[in-house]
Amino acid sequence: MSNRPSHIAIIMDGNGRWAESQGKSRTNGHERGAETVRTMTTFCSDHPEIDRLSLYAFSTENWKRPKLEVEFLMKLLERYLKNELPTYLDGNIRFEPIGDLTHFSKSLRKVIDTVQNETANCNGLVQSLALNYGGRDEIVRAANALRESGPLSVESLGNALDCPYDIDLLIRTGGDHRLSNFLLWQASYAELFFTDTLWPEFSVNELESIIKKFKTVERRFGGLN
Ligand code: IPE
Ligand code: IPE
Ligand code: MG
Repeated sequence: MSNRPSHIAIIMDGNGRWAESQGKSRTNGHERGAETVRTMTTFCSDHPEIDRLSLYAFSTENWKRPKLEVEFLMKLLERYLKNELPTYLDGNIRFEPIGDLTHFSKSLRKVIDTVQNETANCNGLVQSLALNYGGRDEIVRAANALRESGPLSVESLGNALDCPYDIDLLIRTGGDHRLSNFLLWQASYAELFFTDTLWPEFSVNELESIIKKFKTVERRFGGLN
């Protein structure tokens, strides 16, 4: 039996380096990266075995970037969500943000809320965007939310996370081999795939070939097969 890539998570890295390689500004790389988000979301939505696609869009550490880049990313996110609402609805795709949204502007939060509410009844792919997301921050927020309720268990803490779903296949583009604080808890038994391809150039072909390899991996979860 082959593995089912039910929950795919992607660390979308390399927008800036892609732009530099083209003699363009980093912001241009983020624009192109947003197009790849659309392409991958549509592919996953059409793929019968994929239920959930979690994408790392902005980390709790990304605020350290130059103010202009952060501002650009916030505007791009707002524009992307506004423009893509028909894509979500046409594809029956539910949008679920994860991360601490309280740090975002009122107008961005409003757009996030609108897309989440408008797509709440879609029952195809769930596209989860990680926004001001950090795995450690998520765990601390969940633990704080439960602090009056007695001793924690793996199950109770896991269910209180923004994303209570284990990852099957985790991919990082852009050549680095690290998690950068993405879905630390949920990646416990994820299969990890790293590619040098920069996010704007990541293609459906490459994703298909990763899925093909993923399907052949023997997943033991600590047991013996
Ligand atoms: C990923 O691309 C997008 C975000 C983190 C928002 P980068 O902007 O990190 O691109 P590189 O890694 O500098 O090339
Ligand atoms: C990870 O990429 C965050 C996102 C893709 C949103 P970074 O570019 O921020 O990660 P580091 O700094 O290389 O670890
Ligand atoms: Mg990067």
